[in-house]
Amino acid sequence: MKRVLIIGAGGHAQVVADILVRMHETGADLTPIGFLDDNPHLFGEWRLGLPILGPLASIDAVDHDAVVIGIGDNRTRRTIYERLAACGEQFIVARHPSAIVACDAVIGAGTVIAARAIVNAGAHIDVNVILNSGCIVEHHNRIGAHAHIAPGATLGGAVTVGEGALVGIGATVLPQRAVGAWSVVGGGAVVTSSVDNDLVVSGIPARPHLTPGLMPAQRRARVRV
Ligand SMILES: CC(C)(COP(=O)(O)OP(=O)(O)OC[C@H]1O[C@@H](n2cnc3c(N)ncnc32)[C@H](O)[C@@H]1OP(=O)(O)O)[C@@H](O)C(=O)NCCC(=O)NCCS
Repeated sequence: MKRVLIIGAGGHAQVVADILVRMHETGADLTPIGFLDDNPHLFGEWRLGLPILGPLASIDAVDHDAVVIGIGDNRTRRTIYERLAACGEQFIVARHPSAIVACDAVIGAGTVIAARAIVNAGAHIDVNVILNSGCIVEHHNRIGAHAHIAPGATLGGAVTVGEGALVGIGATVLPQRAVGAWSVVGGGAVVTSSVDNDLVVSGIPARPHLTPGLMPAQRRARVRV
């Protein structure tokens, strides 16, 4: 039976832990053995009956067979994925038993599929993606590495989501549209026109999110029509 370490111990990591516990209970050939997290205040604590064993740097000291990353921030998750992959770590797919995944969907290593997510026919999900609770990834979507489809988001047929993009809570992307790499679709937005790389969009229909402060490069950018 594969012994799986969870990287991170925060809120998303605990969701991942619950998924692994449910997988174990329903007969998957794996068991979660604990968390690694760089916050020293957490060492020795327990979450969902699993210990927080130490920092990421201690990974070689912990007997394990595979890992899965429980970090929500897409750039941080990518950095850690690439570091661990370069060290030869094996990544599992964490798939909640209540998720519905088409028999021909392709799911990349390290991807997390949360409760009641739906992945339909012909979908291709790259590595280290989060398909969060109750999201709908319709047929023939292509979801890039390290992307996050947030809870309740709905992607119509043949949507493309680029590497590292975040489709926010409850957002909708109409069929055949694209969301560019590292872009953010705000919660509740409806994407009616494809979105370029490195943008933040929000609203219905989704338009560039013109908030002063964060991400000045993204404020200059625009939605591609
Ligand atoms: C769109 C988003 C990226 C904007 O972030 P931000 O620039 O930090 O936004 P702020 O919270 O500072 O809000 C700035 C303004 O935008 C508005 N706003 C924020 N998010 C919005 C959204 N999704 N749709 C419409 N308006 C939004 C705020 O009400 C505020 O308006 P005001 O200036 O009139 O008061 C962010 O709010 C968002 O929706 N992120 C997605 C989060 C998510 O789904 N994460 C997944 C977790 S599981």
